Amino acid sequence: MTAESLKQTAVTEFTNPNLSILYSADDIEARIDVLGRQITADYQGRDLVLVGVLKGSCVFMADLMRAIDLPMKIDFMAVSSYKDGTVSTGDVEILKDLSNPIRGKDVLVVEDIIDTGLTLTRLLDILGSRGANSIKLASFLDKPEPRINKELKLDYTGFVIPNEFVVGYGLDAAGRYRNLPFIGVVKNPAEA
Ligand code: IMP
Ligand code: MG
Repeated sequence: MTAESLKQTAVTEFTNPNLSILYSADDIEARIDVLGRQITADYQGRDLVLVGVLKGSCVFMADLMRAIDLPMKIDFMAVSSYKDGTVSTGDVEILKDLSNPIRGKDVLVVEDIIDTGLTLTRLLDILGSRGANSIKLASFLDKPEPRINKELKLDYTGFVIPNEFVVGYGLDAAGRYRNLPFIGVVKNPAEA
């Protein structure tokens, strides 16, 4: 085997055999194009601000904003949900607040994934007291099975997924895998 072909077959972060691809980069691009068109149609003449929830939403945010053909602004919040192992407790601490007021604005909160829904419920409570004209929610993934707050309404969803732990496209496992250009399932978490 030549050095060149060895390089091509080498296992890398993106070709890790412990990952199975759920949505490819092409699947994601096509879906975001549709979401961008919907949001562009729905927010004509509005005062749109996308609020990304760090860190998980950063990749979705970057793609979604470029699919929205409207005058708009962006802002970010960082929250930490206190988790008991991998189970959300619903307590949310604001690590970074918005840079600008949202009074009178049409806010679209951009999340990576809604699981129990407790983080977003708390975040929407906090943002709800700030006088925005409207607050809606766009989540790249919706994992409805573990949902605790069944009332939580997603206005825009990329993909509805089964109750599995997924990584990539901004989503992490212990900080790793956010840079994967696809959504994958870790087959054997012990080997991750
Ligand atoms: P929730 O309060 O349970 O809805 O928590 C949502 C947060 O948990 C997301 O913003 C993610 O940071 C994290 N999370 C939930 N499910 C997954 C997953 O399958 N992969 C990676 N992170 C996840
Ligand atoms: Mg998150």
